[in-house]
Amino acid sequence: MRVTINQIKEMKQKGEKIVMLTSYDYSTAKLVENAGIPMILVGDSLGMVVLGYETPIPVDMDVMIHHTKAVVRGTSKSLIVGDMPFMTYHVSVEDAMRNAARFIQEAGAQAVKLEGGITVADKVKRLVDCGIPVMGHLGLTPQSVHQLGGLKVQAKSLEAASRLIEDALVLEQAGAFAVVLEAIPYKLAAIVTKKINIPTIGIGAGPYCDGQVQIINDILGSFTDFVPKHAKQYARLADIMSNAVTEYYNEVKSGKFPTEKHSFIIDETVLTELEAK
Ligand code: KIV
Repeated sequence: MRVTINQIKEMKQKGEKIVMLTSYDYSTAKLVENAGIPMILVGDSLGMVVLGYETPIPVDMDVMIHHTKAVVRGTSKSLIVGDMPFMTYHVSVEDAMRNAARFIQEAGAQAVKLEGGITVADKVKRLVDCGIPVMGHLGLTPQSVHQLGGLKVQAKSLEAASRLIEDALVLEQAGAFAVVLEAIPYKLAAIVTKKINIPTIGIGAGPYCDGQVQIINDILGSFTDFVPKHAKQYARLADIMSNAVTEYYNEVKSGKFPTEKHSFIIDETVLTELEAK
């Protein structure tokens, strides 16, 4: 049985920190679940860290479904949240429903995430009414990178901070089960966390959120194009991988690898006959 949205909501009531991490493939998702992570986000950040785009904007539904299916196959307990890509929920409620349904029905996710507050509240309400759990996402919303003028800290002015609080309340009212707060001042995140009854999941939003989410490549140090200020590297996989690949290259060139130990044997009688031919 997978973790449910009710269990995630109860964690806030009990004051228990909620840990979330992204995954984009089968074997990583398996490791993440085995570490006890209750909620996995198949984020459209895969556009940058897996596919090499500069923003998540080129990521489409087919790509997200492909990766979400792999993550679902690698897990049996964690709650899987599929990230709805750019322009798959903005044009109409019908669009949002059709695309969200693909995550649940085709890919096997248990929830979807979408960016925005008041502007997407009608879609959130309709999805929830139809039985699809929705996670909101406020603050730095990377799909709006061009409108925001870059991937930078949000909601620093009184007006923008007040709007963000309003957006969070609207998402809660629309039925969202949690809301991601990305790259906002930590004291604002603390206010939002107190004001709403659903969990806040921070990324670059400080220690006072109900939970935290990180991009797995950032905490493992496997993505080297840039390291966000909010990320802590618990490993430097890029160095470990580079060293391993260099060692493999050197050993093949020098004939050190493979040895007979890594090879397969043939029956001696077959060999004798072969050699006699
Ligand atoms: O796409 C993603 O990984 C996200 C997280 C940064 C919250 O939206």
